[in-house]
Amino acid sequence: MKKVLIDCDPGIDDALALALAAGSQDALDVVGVTTVGGNVDLPLTTANALALREFLDLGDVPVTPGSAGALLRHTVRADHVHGATGLGGVVLPAPERGVSEGHAVDFIVDSLRAAPGEITLVAVGPLTNLALAVRKEPRVVEWARDLVIMGGSYTRGNHNPAAEFNMLADPEAAAIVFEAGWTVKMMGLDVTLSAVVTSSVLDRMWPLGRLADLLVPAAQSYKPVTADDGPAIHDACAVAYVLDPSLFTCVPAVVNVETAGLYTRGMTVTDFEVGDRRANALVATSLDVKRFWDLVMAAYERLAARLG
Ligand code: BDR
Ligand code: CA
Repeated sequence: MKKVLIDCDPGIDDALALALAAGSQDALDVVGVTTVGGNVDLPLTTANALALREFLDLGDVPVTPGSAGALLRHTVRADHVHGATGLGGVVLPAPERGVSEGHAVDFIVDSLRAAPGEITLVAVGPLTNLALAVRKEPRVVEWARDLVIMGGSYTRGNHNPAAEFNMLADPEAAAIVFEAGWTVKMMGLDVTLSAVVTSSVLDRMWPLGRLADLLVPAAQSYKPVTADDGPAIHDACAVAYVLDPSLFTCVPAVVNVETAGLYTRGMTVTDFEVGDRRANALVATSLDVKRFWDLVMAAYERLAARLG
């Protein structure tokens, strides 16, 4: 059983990543969900996390809100992708329970301190909370079992030609995290763009009972689904990596986050020619798409059976 702490900004694909974790209770122990302003403002990402905790039957997993905005930059949002609420066309029942006391940064530091070497951090939003945790308590780097992020790319951007959204939204935070001393497992656009909900994947989601009320409108509103194409559920790749790293080919690299560029801010400049330097990242370069969907759909089917 792997312990994971999920830092997120739900976010349609964040929701589908949480659903993957919720359907993987045999393999994952979700010790906490922390939220960050990202796709939409913090009050919305937090409200969505609370609604998802109950809808996905995540039990009493604490949901703790964190940073509302980037360390230095003006706010960048992705509500043009995720809709005004952050969950596109998904409407979930209002949650009955609220957030936990305290701030996400303290929750992250305290959780890692209490269980050194046990908890894998899974970060699928801007890296503001993680950067602040590193600054507040640098030993989080040694206490974390692993750090897996959805973010960056060595080939392209999505918010603009150079930068992936999570990196662009808080480049200074991303730079702090990449420079902190751990080996970041980087699930970037290079692989996540192949995790596409095609129409045939969507067909497998329709019969999933109550869970389909989340999955289907999520996929449909994330981006219109065409015959052979559909939305990429980026964030689920980070959870999938924790569940089965063999789904991905990963290559050691030195990754630097551009914070000064006029047109390249947030770019993850990735050097696979590591030489004598320490590789600060293991960068995913390919994904076994069939096995990815087998893993994801098996988890969704288990969760659907539980939810009814
Ligand atoms: C990332 O940006 C967000 O919009 C998604 O939730 C995902 O984390 C993809 O670039
Ligand atoms: Ca996200």
